[in-house]
Amino acid sequence: MSCRSTFAGRQTSARNRQSKLSPANQLFGRPDKSTRTPLLFLAKKEHYYYDTNSLYKERISGRTSSPSAPLSRHLALKKQSITKRQKPVVRSVEAVTYTHIMEASTPLLTPYKMGQFDLAHRVVLAPMTRCRSHGNMPRPHNAVYYAQRAAPGALLVAEACAVSETARGYPDVPGLWSAEQVEAWRHVVDAVHSKGAVFFCQLWHTGRVSPTEFQPNGQAPISSTDKQVTPQVSHDGHVLEFAPPRRLKTEEIPNIVDDFRIAARNAIEAGFDGVEIHGANGYLIDQFMKDSVNDRTDAYGGSIESRCRFAAEVITAVANEIGAHRLGLRLSPFADYMDCYDSDPETLALHVVGLMNDLGVLYCHMIEPRMCVAGEDGSKPVIPHRLLPFRKAFKGTFMVNGGYDREEGDKAVADGYADLVAYGRLFLANPDLPERFRRKAGLNKYDRSTFYTSDPVLGYTDYPFLDNQN
Ligand SMILES: Cc1cc2nc3c(=O)[nH]c(=O)nc-3n(C[C@H](O)[C@H](O)[C@H](O)COP(=O)(O)O)c2cc1C
Repeated sequence: MSCRSTFAGRQTSARNRQSKLSPANQLFGRPDKSTRTPLLFLAKKEHYYYDTNSLYKERISGRTSSPSAPLSRHLALKKQSITKRQKPVVRSVEAVTYTHIMEASTPLLTPYKMGQFDLAHRVVLAPMTRCRSHGNMPRPHNAVYYAQRAAPGALLVAEACAVSETARGYPDVPGLWSAEQVEAWRHVVDAVHSKGAVFFCQLWHTGRVSPTEFQPNGQAPISSTDKQVTPQVSHDGHVLEFAPPRRLKTEEIPNIVDDFRIAARNAIEAGFDGVEIHGANGYLIDQFMKDSVNDRTDAYGGSIESRCRFAAEVITAVANEIGAHRLGLRLSPFADYMDCYDSDPETLALHVVGLMNDLGVLYCHMIEPRMCVAGEDGSKPVIPHRLLPFRKAFKGTFMVNGGYDREEGDKAVADGYADLVAYGRLFLANPDLPERFRRKAGLNKYDRSTFYTSDPVLGYTDYPFLDNQN
């Protein structure tokens, strides 16, 4: 029986078991029309946490996965800068022999040098929120998940991490504002490094894309504006409403910039090789950059330069803190997620690319205008390839994402359109995606009903490998 058919059976039973979970909305950049994020999770009586090495099971009883339940615990956490404990280790895979693993059979699988990082191939794990870091803490099952996708010379970008308590918009997302979170991340990072991969962390502030349940003391989420996101309707008709935001005062903005700086420092303390700033998909940085949302009249609104001031300050602060040589920025200039779009996206993004060039930012990660369905229903993805002006303008490593399959990824690399290609859903469902590409093997289908559910195994670490090992 093939992996695919085996998995199909598992997916069916997974769906049956998950059928009562209430899906809510698509929140992370709508990979396709029916991808949705659950707003509410049903209470679960127990969770099993798996350790990468010993596979021990820790049974935690009586836990509820209601989004508001863990909040009281989070509120007790104080944001803090982590004192420097050790010189950050720059990961290099020079010592690792990987060339025998990845044949140069296809452009995607050729080695690539990204700054000081020697990558074995161009297939990158895209950042994907999985809502399985219960209590905003990375957990042992998170280590299993990332280690499954790690291999010598691979580049993984971890899911978006909240830079502060106000940065959260969804349940059980990991954070990087406390010493406890740094410690917890360290185990995940170690698991990935032990397999020879390079691991970056995405830093995130959701801004107005947050219900008050996830805000300290139930306060309004912050944004560049006081305009509320319009209610978002999910594929099953469920309507998700975000809270009316509070427009940040000019003098408050440096504190948010500082949250990114501290989180970046914390990421390095946790052992990450670098960070990716989340400037895409309608979240806070995008809410400042794009003119459909930013209606400010101060130095952070108006002209493109002024709307990009917040982004510029964040990337400058992070670059000064950890070095531009381990900093990436993710942008989605053409997207309109969460009512966030721009009347002149090309000029806007070129301006940001110029800022990145001035700072010497390591990589630019851009999402194609329309994320198409890669291979679903047997259809071929249609990649718009509208990122070429930015590819030409950016001096560092250029990474593309959005609807790519193996053939399209190969073409992007072969044509010089991109240096690296990030894969989201395909990597989520295929922990050994680069190896499957190398063998031109079939792929597991992703199960979107478990994208954002809280189970530490189901739809998370139970996608099968080609060789049935993990
Ligand atoms: C489950 C899921 C979670 C996601 N979470 C994030 C995230 O945390 N940060 C981000 O920038 N994009 C996020 N995205 C968007 C993906 O990184 C990627 O842009 C998208 O899936 C399109 O790529 P693909 O066609 O290869 O799947 C998420 C997508 C999915 C499916």
